[in-house]
This record gives sequence, structure tokens and C-alpha cells, in this order.
Amino acid sequence: MTAPARTDRGSEELIRAEEPVLAHNYHPLPVVVARAEGAWVEDVEGRRYLDMLAGYSALNFGHRHPALIEAAHRQLDRLTLTSRAFHNDRLAGFAERLAALTGTDMVLPMNTGAEAVESGIKVARKWAYDVKGVPADRATIVVAADNFHGRTTTIVSFSTDETARGGFGPFTPGFRIVPYNDLAALEAAVDETTAAVLIEPIQGEAGVLIPDDGYLAGVRELTRRKGCLFVADEIQSGLGRTGHTLAVEHESVVPDVVLLGKALGGGIVPVSAVVGSREVLGVLHPGEHGSTFGGNPLAAAVGTAVVELLETGEFQRRAAELGAVLREGLAGLVGRGVVGFRARGLWAGVDVDPALGSGREISERLMREGILVKDTHGSTIRLAPPLTITAEELAGALGTLEKVLTS
Ligand SMILES: Cc1ncc(COP(=O)(O)O)c(C=O)c1O
Repeated sequence: MTAPARTDRGSEELIRAEEPVLAHNYHPLPVVVARAEGAWVEDVEGRRYLDMLAGYSALNFGHRHPALIEAAHRQLDRLTLTSRAFHNDRLAGFAERLAALTGTDMVLPMNTGAEAVESGIKVARKWAYDVKGVPADRATIVVAADNFHGRTTTIVSFSTDETARGGFGPFTPGFRIVPYNDLAALEAAVDETTAAVLIEPIQGEAGVLIPDDGYLAGVRELTRRKGCLFVADEIQSGLGRTGHTLAVEHESVVPDVVLLGKALGGGIVPVSAVVGSREVLGVLHPGEHGSTFGGNPLAAAVGTAVVELLETGEFQRRAAELGAVLREGLAGLVGRGVVGFRARGLWAGVDVDPALGSGREISERLMREGILVKDTHGSTIRLAPPLTITAEELAGALGTLEKVLTS
């Protein structure tokens, strides 16, 4: 960040200006970011903050990673959009590389995470009718309580969070909700109408809830035995965050369908994808599903550059190595402001002693000390720094957390 950020309005004025013109569906921390590089952002007044949220994993490679920015610039100068009415010269390479990275056959490119989830649901239902032989309109999908898969009307239909769901009915039928991390409940819910089990391998929004060892392998075994699909929503957990390309790799599990988003767009453009076997994604035919922007050449160019970064294995390795540092640092805070935490790779849900304040209040205190995090439910805060963060930066963030929680 060479030149200071410039704007004709200061942070306070900009925050006030949003109030009458922006829908109030968010309650951001009072920081107005104007520039960013790597793990650091800078506000309108030139104050610097370490970004320990990284756009909910959309910024796994940090802000403005040079290789991603270069790929975007190069593509901006050639071709940005064709729609899928025509082919573009970037899409085949992107799909080939992404399929190879994730060990699958086919790719359905979309834009946002919620679109990938919606597309995964449609594909699973179509597979149930065309391949499994479920009677028309009878397909069910089994999901987990406390899930977060996005904000569309169908997706909030199977949310258990009343804030996300209340007031948005009528809801889409065809979903069964079972407790997360409970194989017996899953076994009871899956029947001959079940198209798929749809779960997050780690529940991010719920507070980085990591299931017991054996749960994901159990879901794989159960879905195979019962003849339904295992759809893993890796939109937040995937693409390096947990120390592997996919979080399911911690249990050497290969789902039938994987949903990707966030980091796939390199923090530059929205890029999401449904990846899966030919048997499953092959159920779609022309006209049955689509998106004007899905697979556009700019998205494909950036997505290809993201895949190239992940092919090196460097980011997965960093997440695993620095994840150990993060875990150790958090372990040292247990009993000193932290009542518990869950961490995998560079991703942690930290339960702060409620006596010290709500997650929001802790986040605001950290912000004043130059660290950006996001609270989730109650007194839990989430840490998900860019995978490019250095050991020194991470140590600094843990030191600031200790200061905020113990002084
Ligand atoms: C696991 C998971 N699925 C889906 C989504 C929805 O993604 P988007 O906000 O891009 O629609 C999110 C977003 O946080 C997510 O964490």
C-alpha cells in the first residue's frame, strides 16, 4: 500500500451516509476499508488493520494476490463476458484444472455460493428422478441442523436459524433436518426417496463446529449403502482453509458432489462451482439449468489462477503449519478469557468468556487494536486469516487477542 487512501468523505460520514440508502441486512463493524494488500487493509483515514476474517474465506490468498490480479488484468484486456450462448476460450481449461484439483469428472460453473448450493440441490433431485428412480416430485434431501448454505428462499427453507428464516415463507418442501454429527439420526432419516445428504464438513457460521472423527467417513459409507448422494458444501471450508484442498480429505472421503465458492474467485470476482462425477452432473441437459455469468471468461481466468496457486500445495501447507501455531496460541488463552475453541487449519471458532462481553463487543475491541474479526452466535468469534499471513503477523494477532481478553 504505497499512496494513502483518498476520499472526500471520512469514515463516520460514510457510515452515516449508508443508513438511509442501503438496506439494513448487515450490521458491519464501524470500519470503512479503502485499500488492501495481503493480510492488511487500510481505512479511509489510513489506519491499518490485520484482516483475520478474509472475507469468510473468499480471501484465502490475501487481498490482491499478484498472480490473481495479473490474471484478471490480462483477461480484462481481452474478453470479459460471452454468456454461455457461445463458447469462450478460458472455460475448458478452468474446468479441466478444477476437476483435476478436486479429483472429479465434471464442473458446473456458477457465481455465488448460494447458487452453487441451489444448483447442487437441483442436480441431486434430477439424479434421484433420472437415475435412482424416485417417483416425480417425491425426492428428499437430508440436511443438518445449524447449517448455513446461503440466503435464497429454498436454502432458508431448511435453515434452523429463525433470524435467517423467519418472515420468508412459504418454504420449499423436500428437506429433512437431522442433528449435525449424529450418524444414527442420519440413518433414520434417509429412505428410498432420499436424493442426497447435504452437509458442511465443518459448520462455519455455526461457530466452526468440527464433527467427531469418523463422521464424514460415516456419511460416505451410509450414503453409499443407502444409494443416495453425498453432497459436501465446501464453500467456506474448501480450497486450502483447513490444511487440505478440501476439508473432507481429513477423513480421506470423496463425496459425489462438492460445492465450491468464495476463494474460487480469488477475492476478485464471484466464482462458484458444483463439481462431481459424470454420472451425477451428466443428468443436466441444455436448457435445464444455467446462469448468464456462470463460467464467464474473467471468472474462468481468475478461477484458473486460483487453481494454479492451489496446485502448488503451498497454501494447504501454510494453513496446516500456521494452523498449529494458531491452535497453540488459543490453547494458551483457555481459562484466560477463552472458555473453549475449535480449530482446523487456519480456521477457528473461539468461545470468549461471556463475562467479558458479547462476540460483537470483543470484535469491536479488537478492531480498535487493529485486528478485524467477525463474531458469530453469542460470545463466539471466528478467526480465518488469509492463508498468506506470516507467522509474525499471526503471533501479533494472538498477542492482541490476549491483550484484549486479559487486560
Ligand atoms: C458453507 C457455505 N455455503 C454457502 C454459502 C453462501 O455463499 P454466498 O454468500 O456466496 O452465497 C456460505 C456463505 O457464507 C457458506 O459459508
